[in-house]
Amino acid sequence: MPHKITSAHGASLSRRDFLAVAGAAGAGGALIAKTAAAAAADPPPPTPQPAQQRVFGLRHPALDMVRIGFIGVGSRGSSLLGNLLELDGLQIKAVCDIVPERVEAARRRVAAKNQPEPEGYSEGEMDFERLCQRDDLDLVYIATPWDWHVPMAVSAMRHGKHAAIEVPAAMTLDDCWRLVDTAEQTRRHCLMLENCCYGEIELMVLRMVRQGVLGELTHGEAGYLHEARDWLLREDSPANWRRRFVATLDGNLYPTHGLGPVAEYMGIHAGDTFDYLVSMSSLELALSRRLEARSGASTSRGRAFACGDINTTLVKTALGRTIMIQYSLAQSRPYSRINLIAGTTGTFCDYPPRLHLDGQGEDWTTELQPYHDKHGHPFWKSLNAQARQSGGHGGMDYVMNWRLIQCLRRGLPLDMTVYDAAAWSSIVPLSIASVARRSAPVTVPDFTRGTWRQQAPSALGDDWPAPV
Ligand SMILES: NC(=O)c1ccc[n+]([C@@H]2O[C@H](COP(=O)([O-])OP(=O)(O)OC[C@H]3O[C@@H](n4cnc5c(N)ncnc54)[C@H](O)[C@@H]3O)[C@@H](O)[C@H]2O)c1
Repeated sequence: MPHKITSAHGASLSRRDFLAVAGAAGAGGALIAKTAAAAAADPPPPTPQPAQQRVFGLRHPALDMVRIGFIGVGSRGSSLLGNLLELDGLQIKAVCDIVPERVEAARRRVAAKNQPEPEGYSEGEMDFERLCQRDDLDLVYIATPWDWHVPMAVSAMRHGKHAAIEVPAAMTLDDCWRLVDTAEQTRRHCLMLENCCYGEIELMVLRMVRQGVLGELTHGEAGYLHEARDWLLREDSPANWRRRFVATLDGNLYPTHGLGPVAEYMGIHAGDTFDYLVSMSSLELALSRRLEARSGASTSRGRAFACGDINTTLVKTALGRTIMIQYSLAQSRPYSRINLIAGTTGTFCDYPPRLHLDGQGEDWTTELQPYHDKHGHPFWKSLNAQARQSGGHGGMDYVMNWRLIQCLRRGLPLDMTVYDAAAWSSIVPLSIASVARRSAPVTVPDFTRGTWRQQAPSALGDDWPAPV
């Protein structure tokens, strides 16, 4: 029997409920109103507390053993847990999920790896609070539905833990600011687990950019183009809770996989920053048509889903660069995150990976082995076999988790900051606000409160020695 499907707040979501949600404003409706209203007025940043300091370069004492609490062991959480269990220097001390069977399965998995069986928490949707209150945790992983991320991360940080949050970190501007302010007030790491920043191609391109292969950057393109109609509509799908958002919000609901790497290439928050954006969505048809085909029911009395088949958002940066970000779960097309970066002497574009440099003629170069040899990231050169064997998006998940644990064990700053989490995630509410206002320009808040000019680029692109 398929497991009972839960919405983001744990309520069961039958197909009938889902169609009702699709036709009326749900919790997502409140989100859209809030984000549109907030963005329309370009509100000033919340006033920070007097002692609140920026957390760029935040370091904590090196940890011999990283003690982890895990919230949300569904589809993504189980995969992340599997990666972590391949690594040394950590203990999974506690696991929380509203579904007790998932907690039990995770506890058994941990014990099977010869770690003490972690404590389980499954007494309802607020039980994560008890996990965060434990005094034997350093880090809390959060892999729950989108609108649970911020309350969980805030609770973890307020109780003295670092927070590692799945993507997008937040769905409203208020919540983006809550992450920033809580990280600054508690001086805890707050990392968004943007695994695509650790892809083999992305890290190679980052090093090519840093080494000047493409010249001075002017433009990037990013996307999450992932045909997922049946996945979204299937009753027993882990995507079930996502339907509530797709049903009620129109904008880019999942921007960070494509945007994160492009922001790294451009050094966003290290001499450049997002300034404003405009956003436009196509009409919605493909998901409704697929729903009709599956159920035989007509959706012709109204749109079953608010989110257009494809959303296109354009960001202008403070230095005048442009970034196009696209999002579609509905279009019939091959998977792509686009991953394009253009400079004054060349352009790289992914899916499939290709490069064009000055003097090269009309065609793309698709033979990239020389670039892998010259610019390939040391992590991938030495972790390739483990990463691929461990799995998780071609190994990038392994590299991301490995790197996070390494940074904590060495007392290093993390590669990505809470400002990255907030700015990259803010594309969700800001694109919704722009779409709702006939694509009007919307200012991207400066989550660094003016300090982005002075920051060094992330260590991700550095010329590191091979990891030990
Ligand atoms: N980085 C990636 O490549 C990637 C891939 C897939 C999903 N994700 C992200 O991971 C997150 C989870 O997605 P998923 O596909 O695993 O969804 P899922 O539904 O499979 O898992 C979510 C889990 O959270 C649990 N949960 C819900 N509310 C809870 C609460 N209040 N307390 C404790 N547990 C609760 C659910 O029972 C479920 O087990 C999302 O943010 C998603 O965007 C990221």
